[in-house]
Amino acid sequence: MPAVQMVAVSKTYRRRGRPPQKALDGLDLLVESGGVHGFLGPNGSGKTTTIRVLLGLVRPDHGGDIRLLDQPVPAGLPEVIGSVGALVETPLFFPNFSGRRNLRLLAETAGASRARVEECLEIVDLTDRANDRFKGYSLGMKQRLGIAAALLKAPRLLILDEPSNGLDPAGIRDVRELIRRLGRDSDTTVLLSSHLLAEIQQVCDTVTILARGKRVASGAVADVLAGRSEGEIRVRVPDAGLAATILAAAGFSVSPPEVPDGRTLLVHDVAMPGEITRALAAQGTYLEELTPLTADLETAFLAITGDPA
Ligand SMILES: Nc1ncnc2c1ncn2[C@@H]1O[C@H](COP(=O)(O)OP(=O)(O)OP(=O)(O)O)[C@@H](O)[C@H]1O
Ligand SMILES: [Mg+2]
Repeated sequence: MPAVQMVAVSKTYRRRGRPPQKALDGLDLLVESGGVHGFLGPNGSGKTTTIRVLLGLVRPDHGGDIRLLDQPVPAGLPEVIGSVGALVETPLFFPNFSGRRNLRLLAETAGASRARVEECLEIVDLTDRANDRFKGYSLGMKQRLGIAAALLKAPRLLILDEPSNGLDPAGIRDVRELIRRLGRDSDTTVLLSSHLLAEIQQVCDTVTILARGKRVASGAVADVLAGRSEGEIRVRVPDAGLAATILAAAGFSVSPPEVPDGRTLLVHDVAMPGEITRALAAQGTYLEELTPLTADLETAFLAITGDPA
């Protein structure tokens, strides 16, 4: 059973005196159960809107089909909302209460036990600071307390909207490690939205990429982002000059690397890398290394989400 299914969902914000704003434009989204699913898109692409729609906080335009843990949204939300934890923006905590006291208050409303509060503090690594006032926490600690709050119900689906926003590198690392751990050790499916490619790449198993309210790519992170091979291969050989002659004679398009070193060659438009090996070996030249080159990630991301214009 998928954790999230959306088919052809649109959302247009209409405000009096303003032109309508199409935030989601026939969005499809499929999040299978288990692991960490990234929801990646540039600013304004509709990530937060999608999450608000999923949680029943924003009503989509007519049409489209939405299921959360196999229940239709919004009709079936009461059935499943107790199994969904979400951190959509920095949650409101009482600044003068400790982290522990804040969580205990929330736990009472959520019907979670005090023991669960302690577990959640432990999971987000705040046990040592649990008695300090919330207002004295660093941004990263505040964000981790927010994640602890979302975990109180032991959710089957945890939705985190840009949890690293505004954090310093140490805070970002802590939150990333926490999310990785959650994805590994628990039965919880995590949906993590981010506009940061590196974050998705480091933390997620699968990803959906969003641009202008539409899905533009989805699948395993490695396939979608890293696997965008350009058909260009780097080979290392004992004698680049000789190898270039052999490969050119065999019909390959060959060029030296940016900094020629006498041992490296770039071979272009290669459909079957094995053909390179074979052509060289037939002439008694053996490869030391053969590396398919992939587009660097930022380039791939920009190419996927970029304006067609
Ligand atoms: N309450 C609102 N009223 C009007 N327009 C809105 C509202 N909320 C969002 N929008 C518009 O909808 C589009 C999508 O916004 P959304 O916040 O969903 O994007 P996002 O991907 O979460 O962006 P970010 O990375 O900046 O958080 C934007 O053009 C935004 O201006
Ligand atoms: Mg957002």
